[in-house]
This record gives sequence, structure tokens and C-alpha cells, in this order.
Amino acid sequence: MSASIEVRGLSRTFHTTVRRPGFTGTLRSLVNPERVAKHAVSDITFDVSPGELLALLGPNGAGKSTTIKMLTGILTPTSGEARVASVVPYQERERNARNIGAVFGQRSQLWWDLPVRESFSILRDIYEVPKAEHATRLKEFDDLLDLSSFWDTRVRHLSLGQRVRCDLAAALLHDPPVVFLDEPTIGMDVVVKEQVREFLRYQVEERGRTVLLTTHDMTEVERLAERVVLINHGRLVLDGSLDEIRRTFGSTWQIRATFADAHTEVAGLPGIAVLRQDGPQVVFGPEGPDAPSVHQALKTVIERYEVTGVAIDEADLEDVMRAAYVQAGAA
Ligand SMILES: Nc1ncnc2c1ncn2[C@@H]1O[C@H](COP(=O)(O)OP(=O)(O)OP(=O)(O)O)[C@@H](O)[C@H]1O
Ligand SMILES: [Mg+2]
Repeated sequence: MSASIEVRGLSRTFHTTVRRPGFTGTLRSLVNPERVAKHAVSDITFDVSPGELLALLGPNGAGKSTTIKMLTGILTPTSGEARVASVVPYQERERNARNIGAVFGQRSQLWWDLPVRESFSILRDIYEVPKAEHATRLKEFDDLLDLSSFWDTRVRHLSLGQRVRCDLAAALLHDPPVVFLDEPTIGMDVVVKEQVREFLRYQVEERGRTVLLTTHDMTEVERLAERVVLINHGRLVLDGSLDEIRRTFGSTWQIRATFADAHTEVAGLPGIAVLRQDGPQVVFGPEGPDAPSVHQALKTVIERYEVTGVAIDEADLEDVMRAAYVQAGAA
């Protein structure tokens, strides 16, 4: 089966006019506006397979939302192309809309002045979902997201976490195979976040939906995504598994070993340095560009020396991503 989302050399440049400072500057800007080009997305290529959840990561302004807007048909690319469930989204917006669900955590797609229940009825009419099917799905969403306590509340009166949960349910009411989520758990408390993650896992694993998600929450990435695409300054920096990202940017680990014999002569091993030794306590760390992963290193250390205890300190994903963003920015 071909990919659910295909992105080929996708680029989007925004042209904005800059205002010169001061009164004469303003006049000059009016007569002769200075145009600057912002390459928000530059030549990005990746695929998402059916039933896969991919996290699109990158620092603020990297081009994540711009990419999602092209894939949902809101924006037209400057060059390159994209297909979502075989449809070119910006050429056939309506057809694309039937295949996708989209949530922009920062902005609700629901009708501000209507109670949640009515918003959902309108969506049912728009997407022509049969009544019984609609009711079954609402029940399922309610079970997973606990929506019924605010069914009759106007959207404008919902708290942020309640509103985004309603947006999630609304985006899936017409049972789309592909789902785009731009910061879906923004501003949620830890309990609700976990509930939403469970919901997303269910949608991917049980319902086979394809999900493209952006988030700044690394715990979320660890819980949900096997694969990530990292972009920075509009360019794709890395497309791979979390393990690959760790290997590329997160070679910081330490193994603290307790030796059976305090007088053992300890030497470094290939790619593994001895950082400290204090009697039977020895601390190993990675050395050089070919340093092994922490798990391989642990195996090597245990095979080579007789140890009675080990503790591992591994850089957490936040540290790894910080290193990735810094390195990518410098590239
Ligand atoms: N309509 C627009 N006109 C001009 N510039 C824009 C427009 N939309 C986005 N940009 C610029 O394009 C770049 C990418 O923005 P985008 O919203 O895609 O970033 P992002 O990765 O989603 O960031 P964040 O993590 O902050 O949400 C930014 O520099 C932004 O200022
Ligand atoms: Mg964004």
C-alpha cells in the first residue's frame, strides 16, 4: 500500500513588507515597500505509512504549522508537492477534508457560541454521517475523553483542556483515515494529557488511523511516536526513530559500576572512557564519534570486568532534543 502522506520537495515562502522606522521611513515604505522573503518551509520530503504516528518536531518558527497547513489544504506550496490519501490537498480542498481530521490546539474549529452538542450535530450534517453511526461514535469519544460533563456548555465557556478534547472528537466524527494534530495537548493538565495520549494511541492502534502530530512535549513523543521528523529553519534535519535521534544527538550517558575488586586496573574500552575512579566505584562515559549506545557499552563493561552493581544515567529526550536543535541551528 502506498503512503498515506507523501511530501516531495515541499516549500513555502512568505513575502512580507517591512516597515522602515520613523515618519519618513513610513512614507518611503508606502511609496516603495521593501519586500522580504521568508523561507518558512524549504524542500521537505518525507512519507507517513498507513497506521503510523509520526511526530513532526522542531523549535518555534521551524515551519511545522506551515507544513501542516499545506497538508490540510489551507496553504498552497510555493513549490514541491504533497498527497494525502492520494489527494493533492491544496488542489482539492473539499475532497481532502473528507479524508482528514485536523486539530490546531491554538485555535478551535468549533462554533464559539454554540453548545458542544450542537456543534457536533452541525458536523454530522456537513459530513453526512448517519445518525446511528454518529451516536455510536459520540459514545465512544465520551468514554475515552469524558465529554458529557460539558455537552451543553457553549464552546466559548469551555476551559482550554475541555475545548481541545472537544476539538479532537469533532475532528474524528466523520471517521477520517488521516489526522493532523498541531499541538493537541497544549495547556492540558497531566491527567488530561495522559487521557488524550491514550485516545490517540487507540486511534492509531485500534482504528488504524495515520497521525501526523506536532508537539513541544517530549514525554508525549516518547509515549506515542516511534518515528520523528525533525525540522529547523524550514529544512528537514533528521527523519528516523527516537533511537536514531538519541544516537545522533544524545551520546551523553554515564555508567556507574561497582567493581568486585577495588584494586582492579581499569582501562578504557573502544569508544568508552573511564571518567572517574574512586576505589571500587568507576564511572564510564562515551568517547569519540563512534561511541557505542549506553546499552552496548553496558554489555561491554560487564563482559570485560567483574562488577557487583551498575547504575545508568542516560540523557533524557529533552536534553537530546536541545542538543539536536542547537546543532541543527548551527549547521
Ligand atoms: N502567513 C505568514 N506570513 C509570513 N510569515 C509567516 C506566515 N506564517 C508563518 N510565517 C513564518 O514562517 C516561519 C514558520 O512558522 P510556523 O508557524 O510554521 O512555525 P512552527 O514550527 O509551527 O513554530 P511553533 O513551534 O512556534 O508553532 C516563522 O518564521 C513564521 O514567522
Ligand atoms: Mg506551530
